[in-house]
Amino acid sequence: MKTQVAIIGAGPSGLLLGQLLHRQGIDNVIVERRSGEYVLSRIRAGVLEQGMVDLLREAGVDQRMDQEGLPHDGFELVFDNRRVRVALDELTGGSNVMVYGQTEVTRDLMEAREAAGATTLYEADNVQPHDLESDHPYLTLEHNGETIKLECDYIAGCDGYHGVSRQAIPQERIKAFEKVYPFGWLGMLSDTPPVSDELIYSRHERGFSLCSMRSATRSRYYLQVPLDEKVEDWSDERFWEELKRRLPDEVAAKLVTGPSIEKSIAPLRSYVVEPMQHGRLFLVGDAAHIVPPTGAKGLNLAASDVNTLYRLMVKVYQEGRTDLIERYSQTCLKRIWKAERFSWWMTSMLHNFSDEDDFNSRMQLAELDYVTSSQAGLTTIAENYVGLPYEPLE
Ligand code: APR
Ligand code: PHB
Repeated sequence: MKTQVAIIGAGPSGLLLGQLLHRQGIDNVIVERRSGEYVLSRIRAGVLEQGMVDLLREAGVDQRMDQEGLPHDGFELVFDNRRVRVALDELTGGSNVMVYGQTEVTRDLMEAREAAGATTLYEADNVQPHDLESDHPYLTLEHNGETIKLECDYIAGCDGYHGVSRQAIPQERIKAFEKVYPFGWLGMLSDTPPVSDELIYSRHERGFSLCSMRSATRSRYYLQVPLDEKVEDWSDERFWEELKRRLPDEVAAKLVTGPSIEKSIAPLRSYVVEPMQHGRLFLVGDAAHIVPPTGAKGLNLAASDVNTLYRLMVKVYQEGRTDLIERYSQTCLKRIWKAERFSWWMTSMLHNFSDEDDFNSRMQLAELDYVTSSQAGLTTIAENYVGLPYEPLE
């Protein structure tokens, strides 16, 4: 089997890259360890920056997003029994974000790929990249009981944090930067109307909470929980009670509760690997970096990596500019570190790090009071939240 770009992983990174390349006539094959249904069953992020929305339009998958996605011009920060609105559009000269679930983005991309007749090998086992430093890299994998060799010009490692791509780079050639936080987020999805039209990020002595949504009838809520917490110990009732305790009274009074559709706990981590390329292998999205979800940046960073690699590949195949390819990692990392900073900062300001650390707690409150009472402070939150500009290639 032969293609121009072999893509490992059919998450949002792999599918979006595949669709964009396909529309430019660049042949690609995606190999994915799981089934399509499994990929769609994972409940993940839900806030899209304008840059990602534009990229989805370029990929031709904007129809359902425009019908069902919810444009958000602001969100709320809650602390010390105060509610402060961050007016995204006013503070940034007209930018906003779109609430549209990662699951829906993934579904739209899968359907577009199928309609385009592009090849995806689901349930591919033992995917392994080879000869990365040569001009003829390839993948080996098992699919339907057959061993396949997939020859290609380039390999895109879009296989997430636990994927094989990063492992295929000699360890002495890369450096990882990591921060692990001493808590996780317990997420719950329910078919209940959202408590507010806008997202609410709340700092509270009992821990952080977030009120988000997927539609006018479906809510997504999160609670900060200790790392060793078990999801089985959280009945729906316990979840709702705890959420109410962490919200201002007038918000808690409006909360509509109901049975959960999904509950899961995710640890919080900041992680970046440098460089993000080795020979003809390029790491994209979660394969190269993780952010804690407090800044809503994970999915959007994946999209900005895709944007960079896609435009580089177009330069290679349409203009013969193979010289630019060396810049992939440095171009991506500029933006990634700034999103890492914002995500770490939002996480640091809004979570309870230790019940005993009164000084830290006062620092958080002073910082929140300062940034929300200063136009400059609010602007810095808003411009990071809607997404910093994509880096140019040259
Ligand atoms: N072989 C083939 N596929 C693999 C392998 C492997 N060895 N390892 C992992 N995969 C697949 C996973 O099954 C998954 O479908 O790669 C895909 C990676 O998808 P994601 O983890 O979703 O990563 P990415 O596409 O970069 O998406 C960005 O942003 O909101 C955040 O973490 C959230 O998933 C989101 C991410
Ligand atoms: C979500 O809706 O899942 C969501 C929204 C905002 C975040 C994180 C997650 O910061």
